[in-house]
Amino acid sequence: MTIEPTPDQATYDLVVVANRLPVDRTTDAEGNETWQQSPGGLVTAMQSVMTGGDGAWVGWSGDPGEAPEPFDADGLHLHAVGLTRQEIEDHYEGMSNDTLWPLYHDVIVPPRFRRRWFDGYRTVNRRFAQAAARLAAPGATVWVHDYQLQLVPAMLRALRPDVRIGWFNHIPFPPVELFAQLPWRRAIIEGLLGADLLGFQRRADAENFLRVCRRLLALQTRGDTVTVRNHDGGERVVRATSFPISIDSAGLEELARRPETLERARQIRRDLGDPDIVLLGVDRLDYTKGIRHRLKAYEELLADGVLAPPKAVLVQVATPSRERVQAYQQLREQVEVTVGRANGDYGQLGQPAIHYLHQSFPREEMAAMFLAADVMLVTPLRDGMNLVAKEYVTCRYDQGGALVLSEFTGASGELDRAFICNPHDIDGLKLTIREAIDTDPREKSRRMRTMRRRVREYDVQRWADHFLQALAAAPERP
Ligand code: ADP
Ligand code: G6P
Repeated sequence: MTIEPTPDQATYDLVVVANRLPVDRTTDAEGNETWQQSPGGLVTAMQSVMTGGDGAWVGWSGDPGEAPEPFDADGLHLHAVGLTRQEIEDHYEGMSNDTLWPLYHDVIVPPRFRRRWFDGYRTVNRRFAQAAARLAAPGATVWVHDYQLQLVPAMLRALRPDVRIGWFNHIPFPPVELFAQLPWRRAIIEGLLGADLLGFQRRADAENFLRVCRRLLALQTRGDTVTVRNHDGGERVVRATSFPISIDSAGLEELARRPETLERARQIRRDLGDPDIVLLGVDRLDYTKGIRHRLKAYEELLADGVLAPPKAVLVQVATPSRERVQAYQQLREQVEVTVGRANGDYGQLGQPAIHYLHQSFPREEMAAMFLAADVMLVTPLRDGMNLVAKEYVTCRYDQGGALVLSEFTGASGELDRAFICNPHDIDGLKLTIREAIDTDPREKSRRMRTMRRRVREYDVQRWADHFLQALAAAPERP
């Protein structure tokens, strides 16, 4: 990755503001710095949209301490925001990932409400808003991302009333009955309403937001707009609507079609012992992803004798994530105990029942794994979109493979030709996995072709174009 200094006072017509930069800094014991791609769907999607353009990206470098000087990476102008250890604890680990993340994902684990965390969240949001205000050219477009930065739109509007502000939520927006629990619900809604356009993954998310505005703040909504009263007594109209996110399908397919990727996929199958059936899971190690439910169903299929290694194997890639948050530590323990038990009970020497990888991999390796997998298991209990599902179908240019997909993902709204499951229903999930294995290959091909067409036609560039066009057309301020 090329890194060059950026001229200090430059301003930009497009500024992206996200909690993370697309690259993460790690400093080893000797003080040597290395940068690698940050985890998660937001970065996967936005990096492909922004690369090669002339926009700036404001974000945190992923570790505590002073922000590095602005730098360019792969043609992107990166402006880091520095966070102290305490701010990381309060804003990132606390408010963002121990309060908002569980609250917005159906309370799968209980959200924790700490006043100190919200203070840290507000401080950090202000710092991001100030950084964006300094970098935006007159009349620029500022695109704010995700649940970590919901106060930024209003803070930025106060600093720079001339810029157009969009915000996109990569995760679900909860129903009012859950959102109402949040002690700082008014501050969050008012923070968001500083934007001209609010984007959500699904229609249901946008509708949840509009309902929250009506019920909790008694605001007036009409269609997909909310009317907001300014401090000076004037009115502003904010639009809230859905833009389902996607991937760079052409770029990924090109990678998947390379002969070396196909050869690597063949090698992966050989390394697994040439099984008849390779099942695959690829997720951040997050309790929203339904990894435990998936492992339970697989373990039962082994116990029932329906699947048996070495003829069938499961590969579970679980990217390390938010490792200082307790719920993630507990999940890791539970997953690793289950993997150990399944391998103890059903594995043989050199032939485990589950190949478990708690690691990150380059894109090339991910594409090869997708090509090597007969059945892809995407079983979240709740997921804003789930890009892994779209990546899998994109890589299957051979029309092979089968996708088992939870009905609780945003992706299921588009990929309805997948083998749809309810991961809470373990018997149902087992049946769906069997169906994905046993269905006639011609039928599986037909399903794959339909899903591939959808992802190819509505790729991440179209998503970004739609969002930015809607932002440009957002109701003018009176
Ligand atoms: P989330 O945003 O919640 O992490 P998504 O499925 O939307 O979930 O996006 C995850 C992204 O991270 C995908 O682009 C996926 O390919 C990538 N990814 C997941 N696990 C790994 C891994 N172990 N190594 C590299 N990339 C990974
Ligand atoms: C999801 C969120 C992103 C987040 C990513 C990785 O995709 O929507 O905002 O960046 O997960 O999580 P992390 O906590 O490592 O940034």
